[in-house]
Amino acid sequence: MSGPSTYEPKTGIERWLDQRLPVLRMMHDSFVDYPTPRNLNYFWTFGAILMLCLVVQIVTGIVMAMHYTPSITEAFSSIQRLKRDVPFGWLIQNIHATGSSMFFLAVYIHMFRGLYYGSYKAPREVLWILGVVIYLLMMATAFLGYVLPWGQMSFWGATVITNFFSAIPVVGVPVKEWLMGGFAIDNPTLNRFFSLHYLLPFVIFGVVILHVWALHVTGQNNPDGIEVKDKSDTVAFTPYATIKDFFATAVFMIMFAAFVFYLPDALGHPDNYIPADPLKTPPHIVPEWYLLPFYAILRAIDFAIGPISAKLGGLILMVGAIAVLVVLPWLDTSKVRSMRYRPVARQFFLVFVLVCLALGWCGAQSPDKVVWQAGEFSIAGSYAAGAAGEQKLTATGNTLEEVEKTFGKQLAGAIASNGAGTLTKTVVTPFQFKVTQFSQLLTLYYFAFFLLILPILGLRETPGRVPETIAKAIGAKRAAATERGA
Ligand code: HEM
Repeated sequence: MSGPSTYEPKTGIERWLDQRLPVLRMMHDSFVDYPTPRNLNYFWTFGAILMLCLVVQIVTGIVMAMHYTPSITEAFSSIQRLKRDVPFGWLIQNIHATGSSMFFLAVYIHMFRGLYYGSYKAPREVLWILGVVIYLLMMATAFLGYVLPWGQMSFWGATVITNFFSAIPVVGVPVKEWLMGGFAIDNPTLNRFFSLHYLLPFVIFGVVILHVWALHVTGQNNPDGIEVKDKSDTVAFTPYATIKDFFATAVFMIMFAAFVFYLPDALGHPDNYIPADPLKTPPHIVPEWYLLPFYAILRAIDFAIGPISAKLGGLILMVGAIAVLVVLPWLDTSKVRSMRYRPVARQFFLVFVLVCLALGWCGAQSPDKVVWQAGEFSIAGSYAAGAAGEQKLTATGNTLEEVEKTFGKQLAGAIASNGAGTLTKTVVTPFQFKVTQFSQLLTLYYFAFFLLILPILGLRETPGRVPETIAKAIGAKRAAATERGA
């Protein structure tokens, strides 16, 4: 994409190095003279923001590791010591913990950008798949890292997630024990989680290099989704894209800093300030916000399908939710890349974004929580006692407890005034739509979007007309204008 190199060494040292290891030439061709589409919007700055996030996580993580003790008796207090006693330890820890949220926020914007503008389509399939690999590695790294402070959520989160592995037929239990390094979450688990949490960011770094390499082979997509025609459709990466990346990164850092300095605990769970206690299960175990949509999908299945248990079903769906992203470039049949020119797909995409947000909400709720209820609970009864004859008792309310309480009071009154007798009663339960069912519906849309909507819509949708001014290269337009003027 970048064409022949335009690098010219200026000093003797640069010339000497260029003949031996042309690393400066590579940097120049990739980040200075690299042709960038001239119509990129601010969504294209998130790649740079993500790079910054990765570096920040690695640097703060290495400093934290100098003070951290991966032992179940000392892990919690070593983090507290870092926060309270080590100079600027509080800052490093706040940046690292908040940084993971910022990293995921940026990656979600980056991914939805890719989905909207069709950046996963040919010839950028490998670039997209490498992105999905990075995302998977990020999820694994974040999960492993969350266990390290050894708070209540760390311990119980690890227990819940590793437990899901036991649902895999035949090898499930050995795999689970292998992950935990024993029969329960304990010191060996913490040690291996620490080791892997330290390792994986460097693996991510390696895959990011491949990701950017693939990007430089195909060139960047752009909001119109129409490939650049010639050099006149592009501008040099430096200064045009660099300055935009710097500005966007600065704005992002201000938001990041606002969380670090004013709301450091807003995105975490308060229970992680309680040291892990294997004998006390928290009433409500939830992962960090960025994993909630997948947690909702994992819990959505509450019934067995033939030999597939509910637990295994949830696991299959969660793995499937990511696997479907890998094959997305071949599922979307549309010849039009950007949703700018796909009026119907755009509406479905909007619903998809809302569905992902709603899945996140479901993941944070108790599965039994009632989302919507048709009508009220009611108890209708009749109480017959001696000469008083039959007495009707009725109570209605929003919850069964409420209704039982009212009914109980009426019954107690009837017994007090008429003496012992016989009671007959019928309880009417309204239809309740719970978080689990809501998650099922949302999960259905999640998969339908990729497996049905995009493949079918791609064949049936009439795309919006691309204006002539956009379909032609800038250079061709200029030439035509000059010709007209001549
Ligand atoms: C550590 C995480 C990541 C880093 C550092 C990173 C970095 C970058 C950079 C620097 C670019 C070029 C600038 C831009 O388009 O914003 C880019 C483009 C791209 N990335 Fe990522 N990325 C990451 C994660 C992901 C993920 C998770 C996905 C998707 C699953 C993804 C998919 C893409 C695609 C499709 C493009 C091409 C965009 C286009 O030209 O339209 N990336 N990435």
